[in-house]
Amino acid sequence: MTATLKINAAVLNAPNQALTIEVLDIEPPRDNEIRVKLVATGVCHTDISVMRRPFPVEQPMVLGHEGAGIVEAVGKSVTKVKVGDRVVMSFNSCGHCGSCHAHAESYCTNFFGTNFLGQRPDGSTALSRGGQPVRHNFFGQSSFATYSICTERNVVKVPDTVSSEVFEMLGPLGCGIQTGAGAIINVLKPGLAESVVVFGTGAVGLSALMAAKALGAATIVAVDRVAERLALATELGATHTVLADGSSDVVVEIARVTGGGANVSLDTTAVTAVLRQAIDCLAPLGRCGFVGGAPVGSVLEVDVRDVMLNGKTLRGIVEGDSNADVFIPKLIEMQALGRFPFERLVRMYPFGQINEAIEDAISGKTVKPVLRFAH
Ligand SMILES: NC(=O)c1ccc[n+]([C@@H]2O[C@H](COP(=O)([O-])OP(=O)(O)OC[C@H]3O[C@@H](n4cnc5c(N)ncnc54)[C@H](O)[C@@H]3O)[C@@H](O)[C@H]2O)c1
Ligand SMILES: [Zn+2]
Ligand SMILES: [Zn+2]
Repeated sequence: MTATLKINAAVLNAPNQALTIEVLDIEPPRDNEIRVKLVATGVCHTDISVMRRPFPVEQPMVLGHEGAGIVEAVGKSVTKVKVGDRVVMSFNSCGHCGSCHAHAESYCTNFFGTNFLGQRPDGSTALSRGGQPVRHNFFGQSSFATYSICTERNVVKVPDTVSSEVFEMLGPLGCGIQTGAGAIINVLKPGLAESVVVFGTGAVGLSALMAAKALGAATIVAVDRVAERLALATELGATHTVLADGSSDVVVEIARVTGGGANVSLDTTAVTAVLRQAIDCLAPLGRCGFVGGAPVGSVLEVDVRDVMLNGKTLRGIVEGDSNADVFIPKLIEMQALGRFPFERLVRMYPFGQINEAIEDAISGKTVKPVLRFAH
């Protein structure tokens, strides 16, 4: 028998405030829903952007979108998972638009409604506080809580072979890690003799870098403002690093180490001036991808003749073009083989230290904070 439960959730009550851990009520799953008992959740930079920028959705709201946990209850039409299964939660999609029909779910035309609006499609919420609705359904999960409601569309079953130690680090595969790895493996696809430049060596950028190494790219250049992150990038496979501290021209430096320009570049910084560098640093026929969540209204100026005469490509990428059901098990397999050591990015925190974990991500001290729940 399923019932309404009392849960602990980190609530955003107003923009630019610290999260407060509060007791909320969570409904039992509806027919098409799954209730997951969280084991751990990653913190993604997108959670931080939503907390700190004007966001067109009312609070209170529970964020978090890199959850890993155990299925605790399922609605009667759910067949994909059963009670007791270990799952990773990923982004949500509607299932009935043109992109979803074409299996390009990360370009779902209802992406805002299914991932950011904070409610079910019928406008109701499964979370409440003293009888008043609390928004959730962030990326179809709101994983900054001891329990979460999701659906079959955004839940991925974890193979039994995965140890419990690795399992609690898997949540970030649902967003940041699959975004970086997918941008390289699914979209930009560098060849063996090609050069790759990654701008921004946070969780997304370092995942991209590890993917480029796994594919055997000959030259891998990492660019960041934080020297410690560049040191980690070198350990993970960067052949060259560029410290973007203003002391040298980043584009000139990349041209030097790549012998004339890069074949592939990926911007993860969300800084428009850096995206421009990612285009400018390309060799003829180079491909530039970008994933950074730039503020609404950001405009990019490009050198039109350079892009045309050199046959350059610019591609925006959401969630690494990933089909989570296919791609997350592949990343788990690559990690087990030692070819994608994403555990090197992770630092574990107790859930109660969520605000410290967020501060450490902002300062650059921690690449990928993962919060562990004690039930
Ligand atoms: N498109 C998607 O599907 C998707 C998915 C996940 C995250 N994101 C976005 O990707 C971005 C990266 O996420 P993350 O979790 O890796 O964040 P992060 O903050 O850990 O990493 C960003 C890195 O960029 C570096 N940086 C910032 N300004 C720079 C500059 N001027 N020059 C060089 N380096 C600079 C920072 O030092 C940091 O290391 C965020 O904007 C996030 O919102 C997008
Ligand atoms: Zn859709
Ligand atoms: Zn994210």
